[in-house]
Amino acid sequence: MSESHTLPTYYRFEQPIVGMIWAQTNQGIIGADGGMPWHLPEDMAHFKRVTLSHPVVMGRKTWDSFPEKFRPLPDRTNIVVTHQEGWAATPEARGAVVLESLDQALVEAQLSPGGNEVWVIGGRQVFDQVIEDCNVAIITVINTDVPGDTEAPGLGLEWSFRGASPKEGWHTAKNGTEYRFTLWAKGDSEFESPE
Ligand SMILES: NC(=O)c1ccc[n+]([C@@H]2O[C@H](COP(=O)([O-])OP(=O)(O)OC[C@H]3O[C@@H](n4cnc5c(N)ncnc54)[C@H](OP(=O)(O)O)[C@@H]3O)[C@@H](O)[C@H]2O)c1
Repeated sequence: MSESHTLPTYYRFEQPIVGMIWAQTNQGIIGADGGMPWHLPEDMAHFKRVTLSHPVVMGRKTWDSFPEKFRPLPDRTNIVVTHQEGWAATPEARGAVVLESLDQALVEAQLSPGGNEVWVIGGRQVFDQVIEDCNVAIITVINTDVPGDTEAPGLGLEWSFRGASPKEGWHTAKNGTEYRFTLWAKGDSEFESPE
């Protein structure tokens, strides 16, 4: 397989996980103007491969950031949190399981198909509130300094680096963008990192 098409040989988790997954720039930018300031199909494929068949939990703004035709994300229970009463009954919410708290969202996710692995997919507001409950983070680092208005959460000292794909350097996307997939976990948990 050529370098530009390499995806990690996928993560194997042998214990229940509540993971976070995001893509960021070198400076930690994850969003700009309600969307993501890059186009990287290889990362979308990676995201799909990691989250498929598992529930995904997100904030209402992240849900809104998906074009209507791409939501709900197929073959995944899409759980969206909002404080807005009545939002669940609006056309925008079609296809989402709408809940009013993250505690409820994480319980619902664990009871959903594939709930042995729950993926919290953002954005920043939601990451900040669930990070305590998460044990894994899969972070795509994109080799760009493009500006934005939303930053990734910081991982504290209880988190440690468990591997990257590629091990050194970058993959190069078809459009020339460089990126790498990194795996982080909390505590003593053992996880397989991709090649
Ligand atoms: N690069 C990446 O991997 C990635 C991933 C995800 C998102 N993003 C980007 O991040 C940006 C969005 O992130 P964000 O931090 O602004 O917003 P967000 O976390 O996606 O959504 C925030 C919204 O979620 C709801 N919410 C948050 N906490 C809640 C709680 N405890 N209970 C109930 N509802 C709650 C509220 O909705 P209401 O206002 O409806 O009450 C709040 O306004 C976008 O630019 C998006 O593209 C990037």
